[in-house]
Amino acid sequence: MLKALKLALLSGLAATLLMASPALAQTSVAATLRADQPGPRIAPEVYGQFAEHLGRGIYEGIWVGEDSKIPNTRGYRNDVVAALKALHVPLVRWPGGCFADDYHWREGIGPRDKRPVKVNVTWGGVEETNAFGTHEFMDFAELIGAKTYVAGNVGNGSPQEMAEWVEYLTSPTNSTIANLRRTNGRKEPWKLDYFGIGNENWGCGGEMTAEHYTNLYRNFAAFVRVPAGTKTSKIAGGPGADDYKWTETLMAGAGRHMDALSLHYYVIPTGDWGKKGSATQFDEQAWADTMVQAQRMDELVTRHSAIMDKYDPEKRVGLYVDEWGIWHDVEPGTNGGFLYQQNTMRDAVVAAATLNIFHKHAERVRLTAIAQMVNVLQAMILTDGDKMILTPTYWVYDLYRPFQGATALPVEVSSPAYTLGKASVPAVTASAGRDAAGIIHLALVNLDPNKPATVTVKLSGVTGKAVEGRILTAPTMASHNTFAAPEVVKPTAFKGATLKGDTLTVVLPSRAVAVLDLR
Ligand code: AHR
Repeated sequence: MLKALKLALLSGLAATLLMASPALAQTSVAATLRADQPGPRIAPEVYGQFAEHLGRGIYEGIWVGEDSKIPNTRGYRNDVVAALKALHVPLVRWPGGCFADDYHWREGIGPRDKRPVKVNVTWGGVEETNAFGTHEFMDFAELIGAKTYVAGNVGNGSPQEMAEWVEYLTSPTNSTIANLRRTNGRKEPWKLDYFGIGNENWGCGGEMTAEHYTNLYRNFAAFVRVPAGTKTSKIAGGPGADDYKWTETLMAGAGRHMDALSLHYYVIPTGDWGKKGSATQFDEQAWADTMVQAQRMDELVTRHSAIMDKYDPEKRVGLYVDEWGIWHDVEPGTNGGFLYQQNTMRDAVVAAATLNIFHKHAERVRLTAIAQMVNVLQAMILTDGDKMILTPTYWVYDLYRPFQGATALPVEVSSPAYTLGKASVPAVTASAGRDAAGIIHLALVNLDPNKPATVTVKLSGVTGKAVEGRILTAPTMASHNTFAAPEVVKPTAFKGATLKGDTLTVVLPSRAVAVLDLR
């Protein structure tokens, strides 16, 4: 009897200890998915990507040339093309970035061996052969089935140079410039979907004031003319992060001349551009601080949108976040100007939580481009010679594919905070959408690197019959894929969701991204 009592006391104590153990405690989250209140369409272009002439992004990452030993199609490496096709990349922005305001398009056309070799002064001072130019970019976009977003040169270009580039790209006539395109191998004009009038013109794009750029924008944009019956959206170079004055000035002075305003925001884990921190060697405080910086996107989009609302209440002008992502210190031993960084589970959680923010703002945010596509910053893909790996961020884009073109559905989430030191963010964020086939997709992200969460979702306006999904999680915060171990972080089937009547219960592991399909 005494022995039984002792055992009972001990097991009670063990249970209490288990419950008190932070690693095993669960966060309880309540949410409501309002399927009866459909919102705007999530534009597929929200899943766009950015490819700049920077480091090994274009050269080696996408383009290896026809004579390369690396298997390729007309110079584009086959492994990368196949991986991008699988993601259904809706749009690619090119050639920069800072590179755009120093780029002269005529240097990138004609026989490759005759193209001038320049110095890429912005990125590493390396030789730029111009082997990848207008034809190579437009052909690449066609190959992967993406829309085209070309950024023009305002910084040290002219309205005439810009106008002629657009004519070269789009004109069906027999003008000398259109015929030059034909001489160079392209008979029909291309579809130029978006054209950026400069990039970061407050910084690398010319160090301009908002007033000066506003006038230049009007001037340059006036000469971006495309053939009747075709449409190329004009994108104004917008603010960096929280430069609200830039948005105010530009919207007041040029809002009616643009189709969209761009916004750039990078997550710097330490908040210090001089010492951003390692992509893979970090502690939990750095994780938590990174999450805080990433959640800032919500405030930035909200406040820039509010300014835009004053001048454009109909929301005709889009807010295009055409550069975003995490910016770490470069990998040790690599060129500081190449911005090559690894990509861990932390990057994946940031990507997914940011996409949830974009879904929430789908009405205004109708295009984004993560920086960047291959080998640069928060890349989808890393290459080393003939080897290629897919990053955790790639797998987030793969999980979120069904949101491209879906109708946004509101999800109200009441989540406890994940807090460490001064950093505090909601532990769980979510977004939802209904696709053309009527399937509801629910994305859940657990920003807490330690605690699993039980998420109880009340379904309003829909009765699901079945739920299934996939999850991305990893053994540690810094888990990542390497060329030696390429599949450490990869989605798996998710069995943690159960549906009973109008209640969906999800047991979400810590540091995880799950996308569930409700039928
Ligand atoms: O993506 C890297 C650089 O970041 C881009 O060239 C520039 O626009 C931004 O500052």
